[in-house]
Amino acid sequence: MNHKTAAAPSWQYDERVKAGVDYEDAAIAAEYDSRHAKFRDFEKDARVVMQLLDLQPEHTVIDLGCGTGAFVIPAARSCRKVYAVDISQAMLDRCTEKARAAGLKNVETHCAGFLSYEHKGDPVDAIVSVAALHHLPDFWKAVAFKRMYDMLKPGGKLYLFDVIFTFPVESYQIEFNCWVNGMAEKAGQAMAQETIVHIRDEYSTFDWVIDGMLERAGFKTDLKRSDFPYSLSYVCVRP
Ligand SMILES: C[S@@+](CC[C@H](N)C(=O)[O-])C[C@H]1O[C@@H](n2cnc3c(N)ncnc32)[C@H](O)[C@@H]1O
Repeated sequence: MNHKTAAAPSWQYDERVKAGVDYEDAAIAAEYDSRHAKFRDFEKDARVVMQLLDLQPEHTVIDLGCGTGAFVIPAARSCRKVYAVDISQAMLDRCTEKARAAGLKNVETHCAGFLSYEHKGDPVDAIVSVAALHHLPDFWKAVAFKRMYDMLKPGGKLYLFDVIFTFPVESYQIEFNCWVNGMAEKAGQAMAQETIVHIRDEYSTFDWVIDGMLERAGFKTDLKRSDFPYSLSYVCVRP
């Protein structure tokens, strides 16, 4: 048996069980864009990702943990098809509304997760995952990377952005305080509180853990950089 054929027994880790922020909550989904707009520029960020992936009009893309469609909507205007995948129906509903309002017919939504999404279409040119993978404990991140690898065409690219730590472990207390205080200054108390929930209940890890997982999944890392405090962006290729 391998990771493609093994049926998951019911006692195994269930990615639908929420860790941290409850994105199933319709009120959280409704406020998501305005909260995040305080420290993100959705359109500009999406343009940068599309450039890094060299996304072309004939390309197909999967966004895993797409949320309300921060990347899905701009990407769907520029490429053939976007598979918008998220474990939260409330977040996907917002994404669907935005796609409809923008008159986009090439967005296919799936309420599923990193570990459960079964891609039925042809292998895709690119996979994007922004600020979502930290919802999985480390073992399951490795499984998720292997699944992503299998959904990509040879030569296909993965763009990963997430909260990933590069500081020495012994300075974690100082770094966590800096992160929470910085978020309060930049985006207000609600986002600072969300940062606390992230640190306490979610599963962000070190870059050297992520580097090893990507390599073992078969990816070649073309770019690794920090555009945002306590976060990293990776562009990886399936050779
Ligand atoms: C911080 S939001 C990021 C959303 C979006 N990518 C963005 O850039 O705004 C995290 C998202 O990950 C989703 N999520 C959590 N666990 C997941 C899983 N196991 N599989 C797929 N999505 C998941 C949540 O429902 C939520 O929409």
